[in-house]
Amino acid sequence: MKTISSVAELRKACQQWRNAGERIGLVMTMGNLHQGHIALVDEAAKTTEHVITTIFVNPMQFDRVEDLEAYPRTLEQDSKMCKEAGVEILFTPSVEEIYPAPIDTVSQIHVPGFVDRLEGSSRPGHFVGVATVVNKVFNMVMPDVTVFGQKDIQQLLMIQKMVRDLNMPIEVIGLPTVRETDGLAMSSRNNYLNEQERVTAPKFNQVLTKMVKRVTEGETDYRSLEDEAMQELLGYGFGKDYVEICRIEDFLPAQAGDENLIVVAAAWMGSARLIDNIQIPG
Ligand code: PAJ
Repeated sequence: MKTISSVAELRKACQQWRNAGERIGLVMTMGNLHQGHIALVDEAAKTTEHVITTIFVNPMQFDRVEDLEAYPRTLEQDSKMCKEAGVEILFTPSVEEIYPAPIDTVSQIHVPGFVDRLEGSSRPGHFVGVATVVNKVFNMVMPDVTVFGQKDIQQLLMIQKMVRDLNMPIEVIGLPTVRETDGLAMSSRNNYLNEQERVTAPKFNQVLTKMVKRVTEGETDYRSLEDEAMQELLGYGFGKDYVEICRIEDFLPAQAGDENLIVVAAAWMGSARLIDNIQIPG
């Protein structure tokens, strides 16, 4: 595995592979890798000859909700995991390499619509930062395939929309959430949990799973279900953000009779902001 931090060097390597007619898979991360990230690498390797993983804690997508400086950085361990997973290039640029000009002067990508709700309204500016950096890295690598996690479902759907809207010749694959054995979605932010908070954290997924069960059993008063779930979470000691049953196509609150529903939620446990979602079968 080669570790590269310059855009020019990255472009050169990708160009050689493309000239040889070989397919490139891209997995973008902010590091502090876990098995959820590695599952994305494995998926990318299924249909491409070369997998590139990026580790870049993107300042443009941080907002007042999350602390950029506190974000866990574990490059040595991440690098070992990537190597073992068969990553060929690990791209670890500096902030100056990605943003040579001040960030507030950089052209921005705003994907309109459902992106502005839920995560978008809880974290103003976040998705513009994500869409912009993803766009930049797509232009550097020009991958054939890229894999994103369904854990960040709005992010995944935003990138699929951006790729469609802007005619990018890239296949965007969404991979199911990888979980700890107790159901907690794997996340770099789980490192913020202390021992006691880690014990309570799986309740988050359990409450959502219960909502899904009740909807599949025929309950349609979605707003009451959301209120009940929120009360239950608050009772366990979670801090409030959102719980919503919505339509997956536009992320608007689901009404009785709607199809293709998803439960999406964000909640605080101590200083960790947890997010999760479950698609409702049928
Ligand atoms: P990060 O949070 O590091 O996540 C990188 C990728 O891993 C995303 O596609 C995310 O959805 C996926 N992922 C995280 N936890 C997962 C899990 N438990 N199971 C499956 N996939 C999981 O998301 C970002 O970084 C950034 O916004 C980024 C896209 C890199 C842009 O800066």
